[in-house]
Formats: sequence, C-alpha cells, structure tokens
Amino acid sequence: MTKRGYCLKKIGVVTSGGDAPGMNAAIRSIVRLAHSRHLEIVGFERGWEGVMNNTFKPLGPRSVSGIIGQGGTMLFTSRCPGFKRREAVLKAAENLDRNKVVGLVVIGGNGSFKGALALSKETDTAIIGVPATIDNDVFGTDETIGFDTAVNTAVSDIDKIRDTAMSHERIFIVEVMGRTRGFLALAVGLTVGSEIILVPEVKVETLEIIKIIEESIQRGKKSNIIVAAEGVGENRALAKEIEKHTKSEVRLSVLGYSQRGGTPTARSRFLACLFGDKAVDLILNGEKNKIVGLVGSKITAVDLKESAKSTKQLDLRLLQLAKELAV
Ligand code: F6P
Repeated sequence: MTKRGYCLKKIGVVTSGGDAPGMNAAIRSIVRLAHSRHLEIVGFERGWEGVMNNTFKPLGPRSVSGIIGQGGTMLFTSRCPGFKRREAVLKAAENLDRNKVVGLVVIGGNGSFKGALALSKETDTAIIGVPATIDNDVFGTDETIGFDTAVNTAVSDIDKIRDTAMSHERIFIVEVMGRTRGFLALAVGLTVGSEIILVPEVKVETLEIIKIIEESIQRGKKSNIIVAAEGVGENRALAKEIEKHTKSEVRLSVLGYSQRGGTPTARSRFLACLFGDKAVDLILNGEKNKIVGLVGSKITAVDLKESAKSTKQLDLRLLQLAKELAV
C-alpha cells in the first residue's frame, strides 16, 4: 500500500533450476524497475518450492544493493521435482491468487519454464520467463543470462590446460557442463581452438576421434584438446581408448561447477538488465505467459507454450568451422 493508501499491484520474482551467474543482476533489475514503475514486489525463495509453500519476502531497491556483480541467487533456487505433480501446481496457483500476485517473473531455464507453463494453466497471474541458464538451450532467445560467464570461465581454465598440454605434449579431454545440449561445449571449443568438440547432439565414433588426433599429431601439433559436453558421457573411457591407440599420454579434466559461479560478465549483466526491463513491461502492458529473449539485436517475447515445447537447434556449421580452424 502507498502512504496515501493506494493499493499497489503486486508482482513476484523467483529463481528456479540450475543457478547461473547473472541471476542476481536479473533479480536486481526486476525489483528496481517494479519499484520505479509503482509495483509492489515480493521474492519467492528456493524456486517452485517457495511458490508452493508460500515462502516469500517483500523486496525493494535496497534489498538488491550490491548484488549486480555477485554470482548465484539471493533468493536461492531448487529443481523441485515435486512441481511435476498437479496438486503442487494447484497449491502454487492458489498462493499466487490468494496473495493477489498479478505477475510472476520466473528466472530460470527449460525445466523451470515447463513448470511455468503448467502453472500458467491454473492461475490468472501473468507468468513471464527470464531465460537464465549456462546451457543456453532455451528456445526463443539467442542467448541466456549466465551463458557468456560460463563460456569465459571455461575458456580461462582451458587456456591454462593448454599450457601444460604443450609442456608434456599430451592430449586432454576437457569435460564442460551440458547434460543434454552442446551449446556451451561448442562455444568453448571454438574459442579455445580445441582440436575436437564433442556434443550430445552429434555422435562421433571413437575410431574417428583417434584418426583426427593422429592426423593432428602428424601435422606436428604438440598438444591436442578435446572439449566434450558432459552429456556425451564415457569421457574417462574415451581417454583410455585414445591413450591405447595413439601412444600419447591422455588426461581427463572435468571443469565442473566453477562454470555455474563467479562474478557475471558485463554481457550477462547486460542481458539481465534488458530482460528484466522487458519482463516488467510485459506485465504492465497486460501480457502474460511469455518468455523474454534476445533475437539478433532485438529484445523479444515468445509464447511460453511455444518455448517450452520447442527445441533450440545447435548451429552445426560452427562444428565444421572449428574443425577447419584446428587444421
Ligand atoms: O542446467 C545447468 C546445469 O549446469 C547443466 O549444465 C548440468 O548438467 C546440470 O545443471 C547439473 O545439475 P545439478 O546442479 O542439479 O547437479
């Protein structure tokens, strides 16, 4: 309520699914823009769990001070498998309606947007998705918040691995995140100049990998790096196979969860500011059940249903480009 007793419209914000650097920057932009556009805003904690259990706190400009450069999410997050149950979705819808939350901004990735779609069918609350995941696999946007940061983290780590690979004339398999999709592996492989990029979307036979490595060594390369998405699987077994066939020393380095943290890059923060602006605007303009995104140079909005039910395609041309650049 304002001092003069006007009833402000209330919106909510929640972070859901795997966290991504830049989520805090997105929370900050949504909270501050809601405030400056005369909306009350609350933050639900721990993803869908918080919406189901009605765990929220009021937020204002000061609540989000100093977080633009912080990784993680001040609202915590969860994957909340229980949200697949209809009664959980109904409970969340009931909480939103009872608290008169007219709009809910969901900051997350594909899994979270599937939950958002189910929720949108059970409530009049306007559900708006802000894509934030290091996987960059959300249909409807060229880029997600956190992707650029994860790419830069992995590139910095692999540049260091290249030094020791050169010194020992070794082959390295470097596993990056991406349980089902290869967007991160592709961008990282291209930008570290890896000799091979392995993504879940494209099966490459072990013998083909060995052939490429052997040809690379014959061309005089002193180090060879294979960037593999974790979703490719069996990377440890692959390292042993390559070692057996090439007589080179092979090492596996799993980059792991450092790709999910760290201070967000300016790029990730930039997207967080623009996506937050679009999300608050959509609610104010009476739009609902959309995912905001960047397409080309434009900030856009696609239907939640279209995004949740569609698969973003990997640009396989880039795999070929990487191969040509590794000559
Ligand atoms: O969704 C992002 C992601 O980091 C994937 O790349 C990775 O496979 C997964 O999350 C790991 O999930 P969790 O954090 O639940 O272990």
